Amino acid sequence: MSGLQIGPIAVGTPVVLAPMAGVTNAPFRRLCREAGAAGLPADRPDLAAGPAPAGLYVAEMVTSRALVERTPESMRIISHDAGEAVRSVQLYGVDPATVRAAVRMLVTEDRADHIDLNFGCPVAKVTRKGGGAVLPWKSDLFGAIITAAAEETRGTDVPLTIKMRMGIDADHLTYLDAARHAQDAGVAAIALHARTAADYYSGTAHWDAIATLKQAITEVPVLGNGDIWSAEDALAMVEHTGCDGVVVGRGCQGRPWLFTDLVAAFAGSDLRVRPGLAEVAEVIRRHALLMVEHFGEELKALRELRKHLSWYMKGYVVGGEARRQLGLVSTLAELDERLEALDLSQPYPGEAAEGPRGRAGSPKRPHVPEGWLDSRVMDESWRAQLAEAELSISGG
Ligand SMILES: Cc1cc2nc3c(=O)[nH]c(=O)nc-3n(C[C@H](O)[C@H](O)[C@H](O)COP(=O)(O)O)c2cc1C
Repeated sequence: MSGLQIGPIAVGTPVVLAPMAGVTNAPFRRLCREAGAAGLPADRPDLAAGPAPAGLYVAEMVTSRALVERTPESMRIISHDAGEAVRSVQLYGVDPATVRAAVRMLVTEDRADHIDLNFGCPVAKVTRKGGGAVLPWKSDLFGAIITAAAEETRGTDVPLTIKMRMGIDADHLTYLDAARHAQDAGVAAIALHARTAADYYSGTAHWDAIATLKQAITEVPVLGNGDIWSAEDALAMVEHTGCDGVVVGRGCQGRPWLFTDLVAAFAGSDLRVRPGLAEVAEVIRRHALLMVEHFGEELKALRELRKHLSWYMKGYVVGGEARRQLGLVSTLAELDERLEALDLSQPYPGEAAEGPRGRAGSPKRPHVPEGWLDSRVMDESWRAQLAEAELSISGG
């Protein structure tokens, strides 16, 4: 399969690291990006050209309001390391004027090379106020947000993309309308997480919806997202849906080397990384050091690392007490000590380390503001609630 063109950016391998709040910060992106580069076959120098030979690696979402206020946390989120040739930032917003200001800030201050807009958050405290995955239901508001953002990127070399879910629930699908609207507004690619807000993270992603979207959208690339746990899954999604690229989230949690497999697979190579626990421990040490550098504070960095540690251990034989102790690390010295105490001689555990990982759960009745479903047009009375939706968001 050939690469992916997102506006002016040639993405050599059609693979995208999904934005994940609390996960895809600069250290984690670096591990994924380097793993991706290791999957480029040496005999395919043609693939190594361009700014993103081994895919695109998107930052955690930042809210447009926090960004225009330049909160320290939002400035941390949009920070990139020197090796990131394509600085991908994802914005979340509910107010066209604030989104416009945030996009303008990123573009005029040269803080991003690619901007993605997030319309996928299924969390009740956000959707209850009309934000996240239920926002595209209000087609006028959705249109106003993407138009504002598109106006700020037009004529620049920063492409704008969107990422969304299928809709509120099976009876209130929005993705086709929203995608056509976005295409007309001039976005450079459209990514679909093939679940509704009601699906939350349950069941399996509805890849057929990605195929339907690909049929409907002919002018810009369509990216498929949902339930890619292996390189083979990625190829299967492309085969099944005809999508132009894949977006991979939970599958790489605690497994950044999945990007080696993904990049290799798209280049036709059968290289696959199957690390024993000693190699995993090496990646963890590196991850920890990068985190300390990024957060500038050991305790904060190690606290942030804890969830990754439980993901890294998936499938390996590590006793309950050792896991618990790893979940409490506060210093690099403690981390080293606790890693060294593991049986590092164990090989890759096979299937136990594969398949679904990370957030799951059961379907949830989508919470929307009362009366939200009655009309697809925005009403002034919703605006105040929506502003709150932006204040309470923390993930996708
Ligand atoms: C911990 C976590 C945080 C997430 N944060 C975001 C986010 O900031 N922006 C976003 O668009 N999606 C977010 N998502 C959704 C993912 O980008 C992706 O759409 C979803 O996990 C489905 O892909 P997957 O099956 O490959 O995991 C998040 C998902 C998880 C598990």
